[in-house]
Amino acid sequence: MSAPAHADLVVHGGTVVNAGGSGPATVVVSGGRIVAVQDPSLPLPPHERAIDATGSLVLPGGVDPHCHIGQRLGEYAALDDYESASIAALWGGTTTVIDFAIPDPGQRPIDAVTERRKLAEISRCDTALHGCVIDWDDTTPAQIAEMANTGVRTIKLFTTYKDVVMAGPDTVLEVLRTLHAQGGIAYVHAEANHVIEDAQALAVAAGEAAAGHMPRTRPELAEASAVSQVLATAEHVDAPVYFVHQTTAEAVDLVRAARRRGVRAYTETCPHYLYLDERTYSSEHPERFVCCPPLRAPETVAALRSRALVGDIDTLGSDHCCYSASQKTEHSHDVRVMPNGLPGVETRLAVTFTQLVVRGGMPVERFVGMFATNPARLNGLTGKGVVAAGHDADLVVVDPAARRSARTGDLHMATDYTPYEGEELAGWPSVVVSGGRVVLDADGFHDPGPVGRALEADAMPDHLIT
Ligand code: URP
Ligand code: ZN
Ligand code: ZN
Ligand code: ZN
Repeated sequence: MSAPAHADLVVHGGTVVNAGGSGPATVVVSGGRIVAVQDPSLPLPPHERAIDATGSLVLPGGVDPHCHIGQRLGEYAALDDYESASIAALWGGTTTVIDFAIPDPGQRPIDAVTERRKLAEISRCDTALHGCVIDWDDTTPAQIAEMANTGVRTIKLFTTYKDVVMAGPDTVLEVLRTLHAQGGIAYVHAEANHVIEDAQALAVAAGEAAAGHMPRTRPELAEASAVSQVLATAEHVDAPVYFVHQTTAEAVDLVRAARRRGVRAYTETCPHYLYLDERTYSSEHPERFVCCPPLRAPETVAALRSRALVGDIDTLGSDHCCYSASQKTEHSHDVRVMPNGLPGVETRLAVTFTQLVVRGGMPVERFVGMFATNPARLNGLTGKGVVAAGHDADLVVVDPAARRSARTGDLHMATDYTPYEGEELAGWPSVVVSGGRVVLDADGFHDPGPVGRALEADAMPDHLIT
């Protein structure tokens, strides 16, 4: 693809970073697409607008593979909607959000997908969906096929949250097998429910079930146990599998070992498992850090981070859940009933860039793989996650030398706290381009309106993708 006679936008002077390599280049944008990534010494084509990215990195727009937007789970509704969540995502350098269509009690999975798609019509950035299957019945295979036909080829399975969203082992097996035939991948929340229920019962009996006791109610071995079981199922049916929010080196290592046996298995972790640890549960507001799985011991966090630095973790998902401080406080005496999850769609880039690239020395190309390229590929989003001609013009400009402290008042998520309050972070975007539109620049945010597209996932190839 050659540069057009007249471009909408040129981004020049920066270092373009892809998972496969980086170097100085000019990015030429026209009609919402990247039309050329050209040698910086060539003259700029005629253009409407130029952005000078001198001294900065030009990354592909972030793809967040794990968001719960306005989620209702049990009695709690998260406080955001697609408008506020997508605006916060764009502020933070994420230009594609992938949400979960989790069925309400009695709702068919396909109907949950249709309902979520409607909610996404107000999104400011592009969106995609994971379906979710809780119970298997005779209609499920046809529903999975219908989801795939509408571009939903990833399905969430929970091995815990019994009587709410948990899928039993037989359902896990059937979904893995059926989805594989549709070029899809199952996304698994892996914690052994019986271990968690028992740990919670023991904590209640000891009078230690309040938010500050979160770690003992969801032990690390519950994660390893469920990961092992699901990996065995995936190996048995020869299907790919993706583990959301892995928190321990042991769980990550199980996935790597399975990969060496030929299992197409993938690991996601979240910013909070790399940056925060269980000492936050001794803070003034332990409930603000309650998420599933919980934040782990400092040694576990260090081991997880080492796995990330050597390339053993495929993706970074925010697991964004937008509850307010008062929602978190209301039932903080009992972790069995309080809402889980942390707000994070806006801070995913800054927190992980700081922890992995700045402090950990991770090559920025590897970081881009985890932040954008791999999540795009593992969701069949072919036009995303790469700065190259033919791809969508989603770009993030970051000055790697700049620092800013995280402050709730500066953030745009529909909540009144951030788990990173006061942390000095690098990686905040100075410019964000979404679908060719400059939505963030030195003047601030330019709301593009409800222009986000509902992306349709392509069938994924039947070999290891990352
Ligand atoms: O604590 C979390 N992660 N809440 C959201 C639901 C889930 O398990 O991802
Ligand atoms: Zn989960
Ligand atoms: Zn989640
Ligand atoms: Zn402007």
